[in-house]
Amino acid sequence: MRTNLGRRDFLKTSAVAVSATAMSAFHYQRVLGANERLRVASVGTGGKGRSDLTSVAKSSAVDVVALCNVDSSEQHLGWAVEAYPQAKIFADWRALLDESKSFDACIVSTPDFMHAPIALPTMELGKHVYCQKPLAHTVYETRQMQLAAKRYNVVTQMGNQIHSHEAYRTATAWVQQGKIGKAKAVHAWQSGNPKWRVASERPVGADAIPSTLRWDLWQGVAGERPFKVGIYHSFNWRHWRDYGTGQLGDFGCHILDPVFTALKLTSPKSVWAIAPAIHPEVWTDSSTVRYVFPKTELTDGDTIPVTWYDSVGVRPPRDLFSDIPESYQLPAAGSVIIGTEGSIVIPHVAAPKIFPEEKYASTELPTVPGLDHYIQWADAARGVGKTTDDFNYAGPLTEAVLLGTIAIRQPGETLKWDAEKLEITNSEPAQNMLNKNYRAGWEPKWMA
Ligand SMILES: NC(=O)c1ccc[n+]([C@@H]2O[C@H](COP(=O)([O-])OP(=O)(O)OC[C@H]3O[C@@H](n4cnc5c(N)ncnc54)[C@H](O)[C@@H]3O)[C@@H](O)[C@H]2O)c1
Repeated sequence: MRTNLGRRDFLKTSAVAVSATAMSAFHYQRVLGANERLRVASVGTGGKGRSDLTSVAKSSAVDVVALCNVDSSEQHLGWAVEAYPQAKIFADWRALLDESKSFDACIVSTPDFMHAPIALPTMELGKHVYCQKPLAHTVYETRQMQLAAKRYNVVTQMGNQIHSHEAYRTATAWVQQGKIGKAKAVHAWQSGNPKWRVASERPVGADAIPSTLRWDLWQGVAGERPFKVGIYHSFNWRHWRDYGTGQLGDFGCHILDPVFTALKLTSPKSVWAIAPAIHPEVWTDSSTVRYVFPKTELTDGDTIPVTWYDSVGVRPPRDLFSDIPESYQLPAAGSVIIGTEGSIVIPHVAAPKIFPEEKYASTELPTVPGLDHYIQWADAARGVGKTTDDFNYAGPLTEAVLLGTIAIRQPGETLKWDAEKLEITNSEPAQNMLNKNYRAGWEPKWMA
């Protein structure tokens, strides 16, 4: 992989480590047997982190030994302290890593921009990682996550839990069984309102920082900015490019996941987008992104186009779907794979449906049972079974999603992607968006 991405110097492999302490800690991986218990740490215990932690903790073989949150209030850390009174408490994830001998595995459920900075040194210490989606904030970070998982031989799972849901597993099985023939095109969409608070530009002034919040730690690797109530922490960070990845980043790793699995997609050859011009600090709430992927054994033709739509109330044009009657209402979010024999609608999240209905009336379409996404990871970390959504799979999916967010920032340009070289070969501005600058002293340590 090329590590020199254009003129910016952020990819120097000699960059300062995330913390001196994390650097000096040593790799300590206990190889667990099926009868041993898994000691789990959780970073980001509020929001989605709450259900990540409680879902993993349902395993009778898991002990929750450490909790880390920059916000000690009830909703973020307090509930977990009550639920797991034996766990050690941290505000700073670097201090948690200093005590790496005390845990075997870590859940990372922070906002997107802190996934890789926390997960990379955690994997380096030999810890198994469950990391929320999207795997990282930039394409470069995402590739580093894949490389680290492999190099440190840790058990990984991305947190797009619907991957293991009966609905997605059934849809992917039907496609792979050839029920719709070979895929000719894919259309995927999220027509719902972004649920986060939107702003047209950065608000002025600063509010008092709540006594429970370590705002400096929350900002982590991002540039410093004043605290404003309800603008960033919690949940609303999604709107801001410094922290989140917008509607495509938020939903792409869910909605495109069954498409990736079903068609065995890897890296797109090109990506193009249209999106209205907006303030450069925030994400758009309206875009269309068109990917061209190379053919696979499950597709028809030399390439397969995959188009993503995320404008409020907008589903793909109906005339694209000759197999699907107008009377059938497309779900608010989901995808359609158009095949040579028929088309499948994969709602987000409900049972899939194959069209034309009359043609498939007597076809056997058995349901595939769901799996427990969380316990699958906890079990695999103890050497029992394997994860189905490891970073080797989730990495290319996240890279494709994040390439779409780059295309949104360069609307109207077809960006050519060379995945092996990690290069957007025809646009230096887009190439420079594969990574970003970090707050001084917080630069991640990259894999060589
Ligand atoms: N898989 C899903 O269905 C799903 C659903 C929602 C969110 N998510 C993902 O989960 C992640 C978190 O999203 P959210 O909506 O819960 O955000 P949130 O802001 O509501 O919660 C994040 C939590 O992490 C804590 N936190 C922030 N920075 C931290 C740090 N450096 N160290 C320790 N704790 C820190 C916050 O205090 C908060 O408790 C995102 O990556 C998001 O994309 C996934």
